[in-house]
Amino acid sequence: MIRANNNYSKLKASYLFSDIAKRVNDYQLKNPEAHIIRLGIGDVTKALAPAVIKGFHDGVDEMANDATFRGYGPEQGYAFLREKIAKNDFQDRGADISADEIFVSDGAKCDTGNFQELFAKDIKVAIPDPVYPAYLDTNVMAGRTGEYEAGRYNGIFYMECLKENQFLPKLPDERVDLIYLCFPNNPTGSTITKNQLAEWVGYAKENGSLILFDAAYESFIRDEALPKTIYEIGGAKEVAVEFRSFSKTAGFTGTRCGFTVVPKECMIFNSKGEKISLHALWSRRQSTKFNGVSYPVQKAAEAVYSKEGKVQVRQQIDYYLNNADIISKTIASIGLDYVGGKNSPYIWIDSSGRDSWEFFDLLLTKASVVCTPGAGFGRCGKDYIRISAFNSLENVTLAMERLKKALT
Ligand code: MLT
Repeated sequence: MIRANNNYSKLKASYLFSDIAKRVNDYQLKNPEAHIIRLGIGDVTKALAPAVIKGFHDGVDEMANDATFRGYGPEQGYAFLREKIAKNDFQDRGADISADEIFVSDGAKCDTGNFQELFAKDIKVAIPDPVYPAYLDTNVMAGRTGEYEAGRYNGIFYMECLKENQFLPKLPDERVDLIYLCFPNNPTGSTITKNQLAEWVGYAKENGSLILFDAAYESFIRDEALPKTIYEIGGAKEVAVEFRSFSKTAGFTGTRCGFTVVPKECMIFNSKGEKISLHALWSRRQSTKFNGVSYPVQKAAEAVYSKEGKVQVRQQIDYYLNNADIISKTIASIGLDYVGGKNSPYIWIDSSGRDSWEFFDLLLTKASVVCTPGAGFGRCGKDYIRISAFNSLENVTLAMERLKKALT
């Protein structure tokens, strides 16, 4: 008899965004005339920038000719892309990251989900609440938790992000091994200063911990004082891995490309207490389980760093940031409390005493607007909803008019 991985039975039946998509589809089937505006999952709506499309086409054209055709690429990604990333995203900001510390992948969701494979089963994992669900679910699948009780998995160290602490996790008051951080934050849209981030790096150094830093939304940062990468903090190379994505930066949600930075200084320990290079381990894992991102997609990603590409993708982010501003102002005018919406595409809204799924249903049925119920991101999200700025200006404007009508 073939037996299942029992850890999967601890998970909720479906992944948050699949669950929401099903509810929205059911509603649409029952109300075919409803014009539903989706401000739930953070999925981009603007077409790929012209420079990116040109890079993509060039890559496809090369594949059409025997002389320039490419088969299997390097698992770590083509050097032409890794070099551009290292220079533009890190070295130009004073962060000493080299091209061979970068691993190109098909996106940050896979990398943040897969990275935990490198660690022992009995490590102590610290996860914010609320949190992007993939971090938690993948640790559950790996057997690093007990059962789910009262909205929490036994065995996880939850870091509560509440209004009282400006939605920033507090340093753990006990020793933890692995720490997940995400800034600008998904789902709350909150940001972290360099000094605050330096405290986390200090904690990790003192405690022999590792930080998994998800910077998928860094391109939304417009406040130059905020760190765009954890490697702007001295000493972070020894204790932090960083995940990046072209999904939100350059509209690659359907194209798939991202990367992970694993500095060579980052060490973990085997059961004998001997040092092991995390870079070597991730490289070993990727070369066994991953065969690289397609050549045309890497050419498209490379074009993000061209002169025109930089201007065009910045304009796209500005477009979504303008939507975020419209949403924030509308929410304020309704009299609801919120955070985010600045340096972030997400607005985290206090549902003013309503349960988050009830609020979700209310907005869907009264305004045909889809949001994300905060409870889907953890127990601390139960009194919040998240609205995403990823949609057209027209749809966001219309959605906000409908929201005002439904809620005032
Ligand atoms: C979100 O809406 O939280 C994200 O877009 C989902 C994802 O990136 O997988």
